[in-house]
Amino acid sequence: MSRIRAKISGIHAWVPPYILTNKELESMVETTDEWIVTRTGIRERHIQKGEGLGTSDMGVEAVRGLLEKTGTRPEEIDMVICATVTPDMVFPATANIISDKAGIKNAFSYDLNAACSGLLYAVVTASKFIETGTCKKIVVVGADKMSSITDYSNRETCVLFGDAAGAMLLEPTTEDIGIMDSIMQTDGFGRVHLHMKAGGSLRPSSHETVDAKEHFVYQEGQPVFKFAVTKMADVAAEIMERNNLTGEDISFLVPHQANLRIIEATARRMGIGKDQVTINIERYGNTTSATIPLCLWEWENKLKKGDNIILAAFGGGFTWGSIWVKWAY
Ligand code: UT7
Repeated sequence: MSRIRAKISGIHAWVPPYILTNKELESMVETTDEWIVTRTGIRERHIQKGEGLGTSDMGVEAVRGLLEKTGTRPEEIDMVICATVTPDMVFPATANIISDKAGIKNAFSYDLNAACSGLLYAVVTASKFIETGTCKKIVVVGADKMSSITDYSNRETCVLFGDAAGAMLLEPTTEDIGIMDSIMQTDGFGRVHLHMKAGGSLRPSSHETVDAKEHFVYQEGQPVFKFAVTKMADVAAEIMERNNLTGEDISFLVPHQANLRIIEATARRMGIGKDQVTINIERYGNTTSATIPLCLWEWENKLKKGDNIILAAFGGGFTWGSIWVKWAY
């Protein structure tokens, strides 16, 4: 009997319409377009504006679009995993809210938090439910309203992040395509360099935590950069080596978009050229769980069945990982 793999059978994404440019940021904090572009590669990012809108509202746009373009009825979905660090609420899970809004009634759904590597962790988790025959159609969502945890008076972080959502459909296949291999890693010590100080059980929300601005992303840029640039490149190179893939075999590296310099270092380490890398950080910034589906969505019409694609990410936790995908359509 041939082996069952999980294939990505559809991809969709959604970004809110408001665009926050580097020029506008120049009027908010002491920064320059030149600094932001040379240090990060970012020129603009989309921000979800308006009262009463959360991560699920972006997620459901991506999911509705995904179901429509793949001709899938909401009742057919068995499982929904939402990767996010900005859930609508601490509980219930944002995946539950997205399922409700999208009319997905026959699925079990939950959130997964692995920060910027969340989408990869969710894809690997979902693929196991497909490979074992437990589920037939799984929606994986990567969605983050980073603007809700960004301090727009802190120039070190406010220039980096944007809001977005992406969704992908995973289904079984017996063809030699789909999720071929993965490497996922975690180092909890990294939490000291990248975290949100308050709002969890360790330091519940209080007037004091709000006054101290502890409900925003706290990042020590340089140590995170050093880990990210090494670990993302290591794990992308490792998955190629252990599957005997060379740079010539790879159609695209689809990296997490945190910093153009990290992306370029990863591509160099893999021995691939710039035209083999999906880069859209200049228009969206770092959208955390949404960066990888946002890239796949924008590059979808350039992908062909059987293409070797390496997904790679590094994020808070620390978490990092890579997945080798053979594109399915
Ligand atoms: O997505 C999950 C994981 N996150 C990452 O992978 C992010 C990794 N880190 C980075 O991408 C980079 O460290 C940053 C983009 C966050 C910062 O770039 P950097 O080259 O590491 O800059 P830096 O933090 O070392 O700061 C250099 C200088 C400092 O001034 P002094 O001390 O040299 O006088 C900062 O105060 O740049 C200053 N600076 C800014 N200047 C203008 C920091 N932010 C800004 C800014 N505009 N927005």
